[in-house]
Amino acid sequence: MKRSLLMWDETLFRDPEVFEIDYVPEQFNHRDTQIRELAFQVRPGLRGGRPLNTICRGLPGTGKTTSVRKVFAEIEEVTQKLVPIYINCQIDNTKFAVFSQIYRRIFGHLPPASGVSFKQLLDAIARALQREEQVLLVGLDDANYLLYENEINHVLYSLLRSHEAYPGVRIGVVAIVSDMSVSLQTEVDARVASVFRPTEIYFPPYSEEEIRGILGERVVQGLYPNVLRSDLLDLVVEQTTKSGDLRVGIDLLKRATLSAEKAARRSIEQEDICKAYKVSRYLHLAYSLRALRAEEREVLGRIAEMAIRDDRETNAGEVYHFVREHVGISYTRYYKMIQKFDAMRLLNLHYRQGRGRTRLISLRYDPDRVLEHLRREQTGSI
Ligand SMILES: Nc1ncnc2c1ncn2[C@@H]1O[C@H](COP(=O)(O)OP(=O)(O)O)[C@@H](O)[C@H]1O
Ligand SMILES: [Mg+2]
Repeated sequence: MKRSLLMWDETLFRDPEVFEIDYVPEQFNHRDTQIRELAFQVRPGLRGGRPLNTICRGLPGTGKTTSVRKVFAEIEEVTQKLVPIYINCQIDNTKFAVFSQIYRRIFGHLPPASGVSFKQLLDAIARALQREEQVLLVGLDDANYLLYENEINHVLYSLLRSHEAYPGVRIGVVAIVSDMSVSLQTEVDARVASVFRPTEIYFPPYSEEEIRGILGERVVQGLYPNVLRSDLLDLVVEQTTKSGDLRVGIDLLKRATLSAEKAARRSIEQEDICKAYKVSRYLHLAYSLRALRAEEREVLGRIAEMAIRDDRETNAGEVYHFVREHVGISYTRYYKMIQKFDAMRLLNLHYRQGRGRTRLISLRYDPDRVLEHLRREQTGSI
């Protein structure tokens, strides 16, 4: 094969943006039904009423975030009376953090970092809404993260019952949930349930044909012609379908292209795709780790070390003793943490029947990969 060395400013990307995770594609097919339903739900807000509450539910990579962002952008284009606010609950996962984001959207800057109570925050927001006669539409993306932190009831209560203290305030919620084992409706307490009453919009996984169409479009938009042969696109589609997550496919295209560039080739080869897949297939792990606090990462690292050492499932109590040697946390705090890891699908927490009930931990990922990704998070490399 003839190799031609890429010059330093030569690239295979026509537009690298289209492979970024927060890129909102112009072409967005196969989600018309969901977008139409979502538009129906928020419509009362356009006329000054309270938008109907909604849960968008589906596995990761099924277009939930993008659909909500599209609808929000459209609202912003047509009115200032309905104010859509997008919140990423992986980052902002407390009541205070959520309301700080709302404050920022309304006042143009975050509230002061200290010395402001939640009550003052809510007060300022509610009065501004009353004065401007604006309705809020709050999008809680990855709302399941509020559940792991036991914040969901606080957040929803403050949002949905604020009109009781501030007459005329109208707030609707769009909650996005990627964890299919979680049902927000049953998790919320009675005080919240009576005002939440959401309609659920389901986002089914894309079929192989749909994935081919979507990834094919990205390739045309993002890469120069002939960089990816069609039989190799098939391979990418196959691996994406296997992982069930469109984000894996988009990440795979980006990494395979970078790998070809690094080798100074003008087109992608099968080896680039195979190499890239080894990283991209752990996308879920990488995102989950990014959402953890430093202390949680440390504990997860110890669990992985112990799993390697014992070469089997580990006993939750024994792991705690090991963890405690390195991280000074109470058992209660530790147990909360592993429950969160379980809910995040990082590990499986289960019981062994027998004398007494022993709690066992099994990681859902190869512990070596977990440690490798933790190290990566530390050094900040992708
Ligand atoms: N129908 C579609 N057409 C084009 N790109 C899509 C489509 N659905 C999802 N994507 C892309 O796939 C990725 C994952 O979509 P996203 O909306 O983040 O899914 P979710 O929020 O369900 O995990 C994003 O990069 C998005 O641009
Ligand atoms: Mg999403």
